[in-house]
Amino acid sequence: MGRGPALPQEGRIVQEFGTVKGFPVGLAQEARTYACGRLNKVLADTQILYGLYKKHHWLMRGATFYQLHLVLDKHAGEQLALVDALAERVQTLGGVAVGDPRHVAELTTVPRPPDGVEEVPAMLSRLLEAHEAILTDAHDAAARTAALGDDGTNDLLVSQVIRTGELQAWFVAEHLVDTPLVRA
Ligand SMILES: [Fe+2]
Repeated sequence: MGRGPALPQEGRIVQEFGTVKGFPVGLAQEARTYACGRLNKVLADTQILYGLYKKHHWLMRGATFYQLHLVLDKHAGEQLALVDALAERVQTLGGVAVGDPRHVAELTTVPRPPDGVEEVPAMLSRLLEAHEAILTDAHDAAARTAALGDDGTNDLLVSQVIRTGELQAWFVAEHLVDTPLVRA
């Protein structure tokens, strides 16, 4: 007779959020703690941006529906890849990555959109504002973590978060140029 799984299980917290454990990666505990704090903020905002892209992918409308529907989903996928890279960087530094969406909501500073449907330009400008807020924060975090010797975090923020965000902002921003669809 086999036994079923031992459920449910409850245990103590083995590592608190906001702490880093000792890790032999050649970086001081102070530098790793600082980087994890900055990374978790970018991670929370990036998870919200991912959600915004999906929401707008679904709710898009108008003459350019199909193009926007596709490009917003592509950007969502790229943001989701950043979410994973940021979370795994936090773990690499011995920290605890923010994961639960309700915890994410507590950390993010990206404004919550209405539950209903906004006009198309408002949806696009909301994405651009989120991009700019994340980019501004990422530039600052990249400079400060580099100053503490954390080249890996600097590289992730510059090569992935900033480069991806800038490119995506370009693609979205060009949809907000006032171009007549029919007559010049
Ligand atoms: Fe879809």
